[in-house]
Amino acid sequence: MLENAAPFDGLRDRAAGSTSGATWQDPRMTTYDERLSAELPRLQSLFGRIYGDAPSAASEFDVLLQDLERSWNDRSAAMRALDERHEADPDWFSSHQMLGGVCYVDLYAGTLDGVRERIPYFRELGLTYLHLMPLFLAPEENSDGGYAVSSYRDVNPELGTMADFEALAAELRENGISLVVDFVFNHTSDEHEWARKALARDPLYEDFYLIFPDRTMPDRYELTTREIFPDDHPGSFVPLPDGRWVWATFYSFQWDLNYANPAVFRAMANELLQLANRGVNILRMDAVAFIWKGLGTTSENLPEAHLLLQAFNAVCRIAAPSLLFKSEAIVHPDDVAVYIRPDECQLSYNPLQMALIWNSLATREVDLLSQALEERHNLPEHTAWVNYVRSHDDIGWTFSDDDARVFGIDGFEHRRFLNAFYVNRFDGSFARGVPFQDNPRTGDCRISGTTASLAGLEAGDPSAIDRIVLAHSIVLSTGGIPLLYLGDEVGQLNDYASLDEPGHVGDSRWVGRPSYPAERYADRDDVSTDPGRLFSRFTRLIAVRKRTRALAGGRLTIFHTHDPHVLGYQRGDVLVLANFSEQARVLGAERFAARGSAAVDLVSDRSFDLADGIALAPYEFVWLQSEA
Ligand code: GLC
Ligand code: GLC
Repeated sequence: MLENAAPFDGLRDRAAGSTSGATWQDPRMTTYDERLSAELPRLQSLFGRIYGDAPSAASEFDVLLQDLERSWNDRSAAMRALDERHEADPDWFSSHQMLGGVCYVDLYAGTLDGVRERIPYFRELGLTYLHLMPLFLAPEENSDGGYAVSSYRDVNPELGTMADFEALAAELRENGISLVVDFVFNHTSDEHEWARKALARDPLYEDFYLIFPDRTMPDRYELTTREIFPDDHPGSFVPLPDGRWVWATFYSFQWDLNYANPAVFRAMANELLQLANRGVNILRMDAVAFIWKGLGTTSENLPEAHLLLQAFNAVCRIAAPSLLFKSEAIVHPDDVAVYIRPDECQLSYNPLQMALIWNSLATREVDLLSQALEERHNLPEHTAWVNYVRSHDDIGWTFSDDDARVFGIDGFEHRRFLNAFYVNRFDGSFARGVPFQDNPRTGDCRISGTTASLAGLEAGDPSAIDRIVLAHSIVLSTGGIPLLYLGDEVGQLNDYASLDEPGHVGDSRWVGRPSYPAERYADRDDVSTDPGRLFSRFTRLIAVRKRTRALAGGRLTIFHTHDPHVLGYQRGDVLVLANFSEQARVLGAERFAARGSAAVDLVSDRSFDLADGIALAPYEFVWLQSEA
């Protein structure tokens, strides 16, 4: 148990200089000492709740405290200055100036230096947040796009070096762009040094993973766990060459770490802090739902998963105070919400909004999306959504069946419809998606594809561009950080050839990860082309967002349009209306009775007299500001 407060007192003494008797106090250590006093009780209590019974808990905790102090001492002046700036402005990420972009280093720019060369474009677009997909050392073929990490301290040599990484981080910082990278902390690759040692039966490292001598325990765990990548292996375990079994939630070469071992927590806290000190501002906490396992449970979203995240959060508050966490929990919306707190993950993907935008595009109805915005959008203070239209992964239909039932929608049947629609097995569909992990046994299936291909551009549907812009208008205006999948702003299409590349076979998510669409980018200023039409509308929306204060923060109030096809919500003094159908819609004057009648659409600069009601063209949206 962690009754022992000695390390804490020891550090305080040292920081205050009492052992040397000197009167001078290093101001850097004073701030450290203050933060330590503020956060240590929380860290200690979390550690105690997680590891109370583990025999090595107290000694691991002692070493952890030394690690924290060392890490703070190593933190650069530039990062400390940023710490101070963000501490003074804890809601900096909720600004309407924020705009995120995500890309793969190799696919989008070849190398880290290549990414540096694209900074002028990022500035042209207005990015203030750049998520670089996994770029650390990973097995050559079997890497799950880098999500199987072999070392958190080495950059994948094809992309550059750690020095390049730090240089890029510094240059992004100078350009006002926050650097986001993945912290793939649920698992490592089977080539990680820890995994190699575990395989060689090194007792210290065997306990870093969940390894069992036979099927007894795996069978018991698998009674209640879900299959995540059933195309790769059934259940949650994979066999080792020597007959043992190791827990692998995702691919067989991604071994889950055993967080019940306090040494794993300490080791990963160190990996996290060294990334923070190299200039990372936000960590995307990968696969948070899976980090704690419990017999007889689903081993997803367990209470200990939250305690672990909170303990990592406390570690940052002490030694890397400006570092933020973004949770990647693509799960039921009730479960997504619990990760989002200032003392856990300040940011979170918004998978529900993402899925329901696609749902509305397919059904032309806004009921579920409107309900989600009304009931599930507002977040605690000092936290924010990361809103997106699609990511590098599949689209999963993670809405709540209970929410759907309110509208008489059967969740299972409706997911079947959505899957059929998006893989073009539904008459009249505009979408060209590809099924992912289609599991006939459970009926589960998800969708891969680029925004443009899913929205109809690949199929030559005349409304495709309107749909792409409409979808992005939602993520740019509901509140939170809008995150663009770079290349989607010029309408990149599915890359089917990529499916045949080594390591990609059987993983349809690769259709949605095309290489830098150079030709499309070259056309971006020519509005007679699709990329140009799209790009001009994107840049317009971004510019309007950046000068509209009402779009800052996350508060949203729903505006009931009483039209099944038209979504309405209010952000400060801006009323958003969005028509999700290919029919013109008219909202009568009575809808606006409570408002002043003169309004201007910030997007088109058109003036409206709401006393006449409002007519929306197919797929049209307006951001209406009342005119005094
Ligand atoms: C996350 C990533 C996904 C990866 C998985 C395992 O969900 O987004 O690409 O396959 O974690 O790391
Ligand atoms: C994520 C999600 C799952 C997704 C997978 C990778 O963590 O939970 O739905 O399909 O990992 O794509």
